[in-house]
Amino acid sequence: MASTKNTSKTFKLNTGASIPAIGLGTWQSKPGEVEKAVEAALRAGYRHIDTAYAYGNEKEVGQGIRASGVPREEIWLTTKLDNDWHKKVPEAIDTSLKNLGVDYVDLYLMHWPASLDRENPSKVYDDWDFVDTWREMQKLVDTGKVKNIGVSNFAIKNLEKLLNDPSCKIVPAVNQIELHPSNPSPKLVAYNASKGIHSSGYSPLGSSDSPLYKNETILSIAKDKGRTPQQVILLWGLKKGWSVLPKSVTESRVKANFDLDGWDLTDEEVAKINAIPDRFKVCGDDWLPCQVFFGDDE
Ligand SMILES: NC(=O)c1ccc[n+]([C@@H]2O[C@H](COP(=O)([O-])OP(=O)(O)OC[C@H]3O[C@@H](n4cnc5c(N)ncnc54)[C@H](OP(=O)(O)O)[C@@H]3O)[C@@H](O)[C@H]2O)c1
Repeated sequence: MASTKNTSKTFKLNTGASIPAIGLGTWQSKPGEVEKAVEAALRAGYRHIDTAYAYGNEKEVGQGIRASGVPREEIWLTTKLDNDWHKKVPEAIDTSLKNLGVDYVDLYLMHWPASLDRENPSKVYDDWDFVDTWREMQKLVDTGKVKNIGVSNFAIKNLEKLLNDPSCKIVPAVNQIELHPSNPSPKLVAYNASKGIHSSGYSPLGSSDSPLYKNETILSIAKDKGRTPQQVILLWGLKKGWSVLPKSVTESRVKANFDLDGWDLTDEEVAKINAIPDRFKVCGDDWLPCQVFFGDDE
């Protein structure tokens, strides 16, 4: 089998930029843990870090970047606009840049298509929605504070609304969505691709206490290859054509998740993982005052 160099793989975006295929996730990485995880990841060779204002850890992520000694320009840094900042996009990016201690981010994502009222976040604005937010995000590109803009948790219905609006001049570079063997979302991935939008896979391992770690198909392929179940799941994601954002605050796992070079999955192994029948979703929309998923993201 051909030896592969998966960790230096990148995906070309519709802006011409290249996003590193493997990024360290930082959701639920607690204070005191995330700086070390970011530092360990960058030292292990990761060149892509995924954070968000909502994770409350941008400051520590920035500290981890500086502690690693890796030059800023070698790192792809993504952060996200929080739901109750939709009417304050310029202030939101300035706050994130200040938290992170950087002059720009490589990718700024609208975290959810949910414009929550700042005064009462249990409600959405009645005079503003994600199309208005995107209009404001588009203005950031010329400021140099963001290199690329994109969206997250956008189902086909909301993407169509956005792309068909006359104010939409920039097609999102990325749609960051939940993607793992039990939520492969073929329709949404195909729709993204048809519009030139890169799919980036969040919760690629199935998140905390992932049932995938006990899945017999995955365990059997991992055993055959002398690899961990997590490595098999991540390589499967890369072979499906999306970037993967595994989170860990455990240094040995951070390193192991990046040990993806020099081995490969056969087409048959990929097909076996594709055929895993179990379905679960980590992130729903029950906690939001608006519907975000319509069953067209499957
Ligand atoms: N855009 C969005 O709305 C959105 C939503 C969800 C996630 N995300 C992004 O995607 C990232 C990843 O998703 P996620 O955090 O939900 O979950 P994930 O990366 O699928 O799984 C993380 C869990 O797996 C464990 N783990 C990681 N590597 C392991 C290994 N080699 N062996 C055993 N266990 C391992 C981690 O434990 P330890 O940390 O304890 O080692 C953690 O409990 C997030 O951190 C975030 O950056 C974005």
